[in-house]
Amino acid sequence: MSKDVSTQNASAPPSLDEATNLRQQVRASGMDPNYWYAVEEARNVKPGQVVEVVFWKQPIALYRSEDGAFHALDNRCAHRQVKLSIGQVSGCDLVCEYHGWRYDSSGRLVHMPDTFARSEPLRVSIRSYPVQVRYGLVWLFPGDPELASERELPEIPEITNPEDGEKPWGTVRVAFTCAAHHSMIIDNVSDLSHAFLHRRYRPFDRADLTHLETRGDNVHMTYESHVGRGRISSRFVDHKRLDTDHIELCYEYPYQWSNTSDEIKHWLFVLPIDEQTTRMFFIFYFKSFKVPALPIRLPRPVMRAVLKIADRTMITPLLRQDRVAVEAEQEGYNRHWSQRPLEVNPAVREMQQVTVRKWQGHLDREAAKNGTSTETRVSLNGNSTDNGAASAPTSNESAAEPAALADQSAAS
Ligand code: FES
Ligand SMILES: [Fe+2]
Repeated sequence: MSKDVSTQNASAPPSLDEATNLRQQVRASGMDPNYWYAVEEARNVKPGQVVEVVFWKQPIALYRSEDGAFHALDNRCAHRQVKLSIGQVSGCDLVCEYHGWRYDSSGRLVHMPDTFARSEPLRVSIRSYPVQVRYGLVWLFPGDPELASERELPEIPEITNPEDGEKPWGTVRVAFTCAAHHSMIIDNVSDLSHAFLHRRYRPFDRADLTHLETRGDNVHMTYESHVGRGRISSRFVDHKRLDTDHIELCYEYPYQWSNTSDEIKHWLFVLPIDEQTTRMFFIFYFKSFKVPALPIRLPRPVMRAVLKIADRTMITPLLRQDRVAVEAEQEGYNRHWSQRPLEVNPAVREMQQVTVRKWQGHLDREAAKNGTSTETRVSLNGNSTDNGAASAPTSNESAAEPAALADQSAAS
């Protein structure tokens, strides 16, 4: 059998500096660490356990002390760089498995079993990270700890404290790791033109983009689409009362959400692990379902039971389809990254621009901190651009797009 090698790349995909178009840039970009990132479901780490989580190639030991509190330290012992995630939790401390050096939750070395005639342990510390638990998820702040208290987590009052004495909405939570870049996942969940992939479940059936607007770091979009038209799901959605012909979505950097008629919503929190791996935490939440064939709301306990079934029979299988598709896209990109990007949805390009701009802003700030701010980076149009601190957009700024980013080929 003859093999088509003519369009394959022998080398790995380009780095950010080597990238020659927006798609290559975004697939090489990380995410700004100065945000809170969901790193694990709280229920997966029991008191006394330690696990490794990774934020953009940076291994972190996440552990839970006996009192139930979560703590996070760099996943390396200061002694010989052994991973602390193979160690043990003792009280509120983490003990390295090799020689038993013990760290408190601030990362300070507090005990060495064998001090070689020292009266006290060496004065060393490893990095600790701010951690909090919300919505059943453990959140970690991988960036500048001083910014952690300023940066808010998304509010989801519908599932914590609904208005008007309403009961918390019904939720479905799904978490999994996907062998694809985080931008492919954000593209996937925000670009409804892949209704074909879900033709069996029909969560949405067409994608006319009627509104697209980037405000600061957030890309808002509205599609005209028929939501919840599956054979079974459509019976539980009150299509008469709700406007299920429109869906609003937003890439609210670094998170993503959707809203249908203020009653069907989701949030997606991504954890970027590396260029080809992303962990995803979805929370889907629903205000009410109706009794099939009747205009009556399902009682909450029944709705919870229906959601359990819906998760197993529709939501998780549907997300599996997305996962297969984006993992195939990653494989395709690894082989054919030099192919001309053909993008038909303008929303995808806007989201990719935000991702690249935020990542470049982070790199520029790091370079300024390290005194390398005079470095020049070659832009996509071949000109050198000064990426010094003065030009770095801050995380709250809505910086003008670098001209280089506007250079993506688009099919029309
Ligand atoms: S490597 Fe951790 S105590 Fe020696
Ligand atoms: Fe999908």
